[in-house]
Amino acid sequence: MYADIIIKNGLIVDGDGTPGRNADLAIKDELIVALGDLTNWQASTMIDAAGKVVSPGFIDPHVHHDEAVLTDPLLTCMTSQGVTTVINGNCGFSIAPLKHQGRLPAPLDLILDADRPRFSSYAQYRQALEADPPAVNAACLIGHGSLRINEVADLSRPADASELKRMQQALDQALSQGGLGVSTGPFYPPARAATTAELTAMAQIAQAHGKLYATHMRDEGDHVVDALNETFQVGRDAHCGVHVSHHKCAGLANHGMSAITLPMIEKAMKAQDVGLDTTPWTASATMLNSGRHKQATRVIVSDSERYPEMAGRDLADIAAQWGVSLDQAVERLIPAAGIFFIMDEKDVQRILSFEHTIICSDGIHKGSHPHPRVWGTFPRVLGHYRRDVKLFTLEQAIRRMTSMPADRFGIGRRGRLAVDHFADVVVFDPDTIAERATFQKPVQPAAGIEHVFVNGRLVWDGQKATGARPGKHLDKTAPTQVV
Ligand code: ZN
Ligand code: CU
Repeated sequence: MYADIIIKNGLIVDGDGTPGRNADLAIKDELIVALGDLTNWQASTMIDAAGKVVSPGFIDPHVHHDEAVLTDPLLTCMTSQGVTTVINGNCGFSIAPLKHQGRLPAPLDLILDADRPRFSSYAQYRQALEADPPAVNAACLIGHGSLRINEVADLSRPADASELKRMQQALDQALSQGGLGVSTGPFYPPARAATTAELTAMAQIAQAHGKLYATHMRDEGDHVVDALNETFQVGRDAHCGVHVSHHKCAGLANHGMSAITLPMIEKAMKAQDVGLDTTPWTASATMLNSGRHKQATRVIVSDSERYPEMAGRDLADIAAQWGVSLDQAVERLIPAAGIFFIMDEKDVQRILSFEHTIICSDGIHKGSHPHPRVWGTFPRVLGHYRRDVKLFTLEQAIRRMTSMPADRFGIGRRGRLAVDHFADVVVFDPDTIAERATFQKPVQPAAGIEHVFVNGRLVWDGQKATGARPGKHLDKTAPTQVV
């Protein structure tokens, strides 16, 4: 038998959580064509993976690379950590459909520059992506905040009946054109005035398409319990699956709250469709003027349009240098983004190890000093939290970054190593895998990721991007038929 690529002697971890086994894997064109003892097979490329893990490519279900897939299509920050599929359009903000010209309200300005072309329909965005594809597969949620920016005349109030109708129509159209689901971000100013009913109206459209409602909840701090209840209510009222994005308990006063929120989620899961993801860090990152600095023990400025030289410095130092308060420093620095140390390590570990938690990076690709999660999330889970802290087994850690996100968002034939699945495959060294990105030096490829294939093509060779851009646009697939 003949294949294009054979990966020999690796520990095959299939993504389903089943114990790894030593076997070979064959790739032909864009598919996995065989798994097992392939001694008699021939291939033009043979890779010896003895001592290495062979796993499905990682699926990052929550990231903000909507624009980056077009402007930085090699997306080395993702491929170098083993990510082969990204889901964009999160936290209520997608760059399509977008009618608004000129300066965009924060946080949308963090993912799309003012001078970049706009996509007034999702179909146009999809076309651009397919005409000049990135190295990774890309799906995209449709952001309710973006729809609001398009349709609601005054963002400081709830949508009126006709605005709501136009948002629903626009969402319906975008989901027909390949949007993976809807995302909301009532935490953020452009959507803060949205009522629960307005969010539910969005979820109803997602439900009609059999797609998911993902949310950056209204509150992740003092009112996280209320926000969870609101999210569950949206799901129940719309009969729609709801997904809590980057679950966290922010602010000193809320450290330890995951002991309450996780049982709430578990209980809700028994009655309705609920899911969650999280990032493996105690620090989050978002627009600087989100109010988050009031909950943080430390803030690093990651980007400032007016003071780019301040990127990488502590907000407290900048304020001291200027002789102003933190709030005044924020006002001077914006438009800007920051890294906020707001979580307790115990909560991070409790949320990460919760049986139903999927891993995400929540990365934003902007500025010279991003959060290290942009480059280091998945290796950090497999190195630090799996190997060193021993939060979970290798198989369980991989499951949280492969089959679980694939099943949650309905991405078929990916997230598992199986014959006839797309050949999104990572080969890594389980003993050396680690993030090298730090808060001081955040732009660094991880250690231990040796080969990354997307649709059967090598995109990361362990040292550098190969230049191949085999990524596809992904939409939700029909549930796999069990014959
Ligand atoms: Zn968010
Ligand atoms: Cu996000």
